[in-house]
Amino acid sequence: MMPARGLWGVLALLLVAAPGCGAEDPCDGPTRCPVEAPLPLAKLSDYDFFVGPLADLAPKDGVVPYQVAAPLWSDQAGKHRFIVLPEGGKVGFQAEGDWEFPEGTILIKNFFFDHDRRDAAVGARIIETRLMLRTADNWRVFIYVWNDEQTEATPLRTGKRVTVEFIDVDGAKKSEEYIVPNEDQCASCHERDDVEHSLGLITPQMNRMVERDGAQVQQLEWLAGQGLFASPPPAAASLPAFVDPFGTAGTLDERARHYLHGNCAHCHQPGGGAGKSGLVFLASETDLAKVGVCKVPAAAGPGTGGHPHDIVPGKPDESIVLFRMNSLDPEIKMPELPNRVIDKAGVELIRQWIAAMPIDTECVSDAP
Ligand code: HEC
Ligand code: HEC
Repeated sequence: MMPARGLWGVLALLLVAAPGCGAEDPCDGPTRCPVEAPLPLAKLSDYDFFVGPLADLAPKDGVVPYQVAAPLWSDQAGKHRFIVLPEGGKVGFQAEGDWEFPEGTILIKNFFFDHDRRDAAVGARIIETRLMLRTADNWRVFIYVWNDEQTEATPLRTGKRVTVEFIDVDGAKKSEEYIVPNEDQCASCHERDDVEHSLGLITPQMNRMVERDGAQVQQLEWLAGQGLFASPPPAAASLPAFVDPFGTAGTLDERARHYLHGNCAHCHQPGGGAGKSGLVFLASETDLAKVGVCKVPAAAGPGTGGHPHDIVPGKPDESIVLFRMNSLDPEIKMPELPNRVIDKAGVELIRQWIAAMPIDTECVSDAP
């Protein structure tokens, strides 16, 4: 005979599972309910992006995760990124230039710090979630800052300083001040020619392998399989791809150029915030004089460290590029914005790259 409690358990389950009983909220499940109200919504959870505890960031149907090959350094914050298309919306794939997103698309980037940098499994503190909303002809930006309990995030326009505590790779307890930018600062990197741009959603950044369900898959093919694109992209092998700047694939030159694209090109390109400097860090730039080789900087002053050229082949310590990357002085440091921690691995990569450049011509200073 079945024990009474077991029978009641089964009956209770049947009742809960029975359709039409009205108790179930369809948005409680793995299916996302569309957002109807004007943005920004009052709480991150109101967007219905995630299933289960919010801090797990477990995406619902239609919230598509992705990774870039050469990510932006943000004081060693870890990041999760997602694309959310409006109902029936598709992405217009572009081999070169920005992918095209339908009105109503939301891009999500989430910033967290691991509690223990020796072991990610210990967990992380989530600090902020940034959103970009596609309008007819531009992107709108929003920032949500997480509470200490890690149960909710709410909009904050004005920026914030957060003290982050963690155990470093050497086992030492450390704390760092992390700066959540204010909403006006988004434009300093995302705006070009007076319009906001998405920055990571370009083919070379997205054309990489990722892990899905325990297997390595080609990300563009995986995204196509998710029905993301209006028409499927050409074979990944025929498309441009960035390498991991700190990985083992690619040449030193590729790793350095792709690092500079991911960390500097949003400002350092025509129409960007540093367009007037004439220094261009797009990976596609083939004129090495524009990439800084023997280039005399547009402005003198503390930002040069007394060096006459942005890059002196073979001489990293005489190159302004390295001098500025290796500084936290607000008048000198590059990238310009809000970092508080130097990207040591990035500095080392650029040092090696400059050191390995063939010294066929001496830079001749034509500074006034
Ligand atoms: C220092 C430059 C910089 C600033 C400031 C900045 N971003 Fe970004 N952002 C980037 C770069 C570069 C990427 C692409 C690379 C990546 O995802 O790591 C990116 C990616 C994103 C993404 C993912 C979609 C995309 O464009 O690739 C979102 C969403 C985003 N940023 C929102 C914001 C918001 C909101 C702000 C203002 C609070 C902001 N960003 C400030 C440089 C910046
Ligand atoms: C948020 C925008 C922004 C980012 C990101 C940025 N820069 Fe700059 N950079 C500027 C601006 C604006 C100038 C011109 C004013 C100045 O020299 O300070 C400049 C100037 C420079 C110069 C002097 C160039 C010249 O020829 O006049 C160097 C070198 C430089 N940046 C290196 C870098 C490197 C390397 C990175 C990435 C690690 C980087 N920058 C990222 C905004 C940025």
